[in-house]
Amino acid sequence: MSDDKFIIQKSNPLRGEVKISGSKNSVLPIMAAALLTRETCVIRDVPQLSDVYVLETVLRQLNTECSYDDNTLRICAEKTAQNALIDCDLIGQIRASFLVMGALLARFCECKIPLPGGCTIGTRPIDLHLKGFAAMGAVIDCSHGCVYACAKNGLSGARIYLDFPSVGATENIMIAAATADGTTIIENCAEEPEIVDLANFLNSCGANVRGAGTDAIKIKGVPYLHGCDHTIIPDRIEAGTFMIAAAVTRGNILLQNIVPDHLKPITAKLKETGVLIHEEQDGIRVIGENPLNGVDIKTLPYPGFPTDLQAPFMSLLASAQGNSVVTETVFENRFLHVSEFKRMGAQIKIDSRTAIIDGVQALTGAPVRATDLRAGAALILNALAADGQTEISGVRHIDRGYCRIEDKFMKLGARIRRV
Ligand code: UD1
Repeated sequence: MSDDKFIIQKSNPLRGEVKISGSKNSVLPIMAAALLTRETCVIRDVPQLSDVYVLETVLRQLNTECSYDDNTLRICAEKTAQNALIDCDLIGQIRASFLVMGALLARFCECKIPLPGGCTIGTRPIDLHLKGFAAMGAVIDCSHGCVYACAKNGLSGARIYLDFPSVGATENIMIAAATADGTTIIENCAEEPEIVDLANFLNSCGANVRGAGTDAIKIKGVPYLHGCDHTIIPDRIEAGTFMIAAAVTRGNILLQNIVPDHLKPITAKLKETGVLIHEEQDGIRVIGENPLNGVDIKTLPYPGFPTDLQAPFMSLLASAQGNSVVTETVFENRFLHVSEFKRMGAQIKIDSRTAIIDGVQALTGAPVRATDLRAGAALILNALAADGQTEISGVRHIDRGYCRIEDKFMKLGARIRRV
């Protein structure tokens, strides 16, 4: 799929229903956490995404049995090997692959992992993960592109304060702490719904995790975890993307399989622009019939506005009435999409972590390139509302986090095809 492109024509108002898939950012840490038990974990509503396939391959390289059928993933880590070599290229492709470190360290008391990759949206260090492991008694050595961690006598519970509520660090430490000796408290931790999903998964396996969804999580280590059957929460970022699509095409879309509470930050901001949103029995309806007004957004850890919807929301602001200010506080380099937006006629100025947008009447179709996953989704949204035809290259980035996005858009009436 690496050379795929999307060809998109200006769309009529999108109409119909869309069923949101399971959350990418939930399933990845849960797949890693499944390495903690020798018993089978059944994970349901797993989205068919390239990031999931990559992590599945990493697990297989560790001699873990995985089978993936009809959105259900079965993972059995009975024969998982301590010293199997993980392919550097593979683990370098997705940053979430680094989440296997907490599980391997907990289970085998040592592990060696190549440094992670991911989207090109900043330096994305892993210091908070490593500080957490060190506080739990691991000795860490980073050299030759790998991280080596060793806790000869096993991991011990610790009190860990995160300098920033990192999602990945919170998850990796939770996983490592589930079977550690004693109690771990993670303070200033991430509060994202995906953290709660991971805690629910671990608890279904017999762990004792309390406080997930607040800024302090307490994990009482247990000696042993068993298998479980767990269903992944809906993807709030995919849902947000379709909500914005309804707005920019002046459409009327019913989103199914969502948790309205998880969507509060995006719902609040969409309403401020003039979009109508109301809950129905089987989902939420988003109606974008009114003219859209510019608003200011600032990305923050949950429950603030999600950084993953910053670029998609900018699509709406690019052709809204008036000026908008977008401030990115989570990643230091997450405006790579702006140069592509400008090729489509957007009026945007960047000053450090702030983008000032002067809404134009309409964007115009152009050849553009997806620079990362969410930037790619934003370009699709631009293209649906832009005059003429848009050609988006770099679709492989979009496939990392959206399951056959073109099929969902086509069902809603969009003119989009993959070539
Ligand atoms: C996760 C999500 C990603 C989302 C991000 C923020 C997954 C698979 N990915 O990424 O989609 O955009 O949360 O909501 O769930 N940081 C450090 N040191 C660390 C770790 C992080 O300085 O050890 C910094 C990062 O550079 C970044 C910020 O903290 O600036 C947020 O990163 P983090 O919350 O860890 O994001 P990820 O877990 O990588």
